[in-house]
Amino acid sequence: GDVAVLVPAAGQGVRLGPGGPKALRSLRGEPLLVHAVRRMTAAPSVGCVVVAAPPESVPAVRDLLSHLSERVEVLVVPGGASRQRSVAAALAATPDRYDTVLVHDAARALAPPELVERVAGAVRQGHAAVIPVLPVVDTIKHVQPSGEVMATLDRSALRAVQTPQGFRRSALVEAHAAAVDDHTDDAGMAEKIGVPVWTVPGEESALKITRPLDLAIAELLLDGVS
Ligand code: CTP
Ligand code: MG
Repeated sequence: GDVAVLVPAAGQGVRLGPGGPKALRSLRGEPLLVHAVRRMTAAPSVGCVVVAAPPESVPAVRDLLSHLSERVEVLVVPGGASRQRSVAAALAATPDRYDTVLVHDAARALAPPELVERVAGAVRQGHAAVIPVLPVVDTIKHVQPSGEVMATLDRSALRAVQTPQGFRRSALVEAHAAAVDDHTDDAGMAEKIGVPVWTVPGEESALKITRPLDLAIAELLLDGVS
């Protein structure tokens, strides 16, 4: 495994409602983070996973993840006050020998190992930044704060972006070093410093669990209803 996967998992999960940090919330009896990391460690390319956990839960998260893989090294560091800071903390703890670094939200708990391989493969083929994308199904409009519609965007050119996102390590390090304000998307930071970003097909199962309905959908996916 020549690939390291950074897993930001330190968010509060406010939109999911009360019940503690989202990455530790249960999906059919196991924390979201366990589902996510199990799928990352099942990808043959992955040699190391670095989790940014809620700071107060670092020891508990180490225990949760310690038996997931014999082959893959799993490290746990305290996350930061924003997703970007959590990614930066995980990146700083990543062993130097990994030249390909993926960033994967714990909230996309069911992203399959095949998606990891697809993204890592595109980085290996020479793309410095790679994102999985899906077509957009809704019509998207640009709306002013007043509520007035400014424009209807051409849906055929739009894509919804998922994780894992993959990077040549140097590109991710430079993107984070250059970032001034807070980003929710690492590829967006790479774009800002002029790194070309390449797309590969995403997976419906890599949906982001944000609101209660998403958790219900993820349960159905786990049960094989899809
Ligand atoms: N994340 C993180 N550190 C933060 C904030 C977010 O590591 N300070 C992580 C989350 O744990 C999640 C991913 O970034 O895996 C994507 O964030 P999001 O889906 O917004 O999760 P939360 O921030 O937990 O949810 P909410 O915004 O509803 O509070
Ligand atoms: Mg958030």
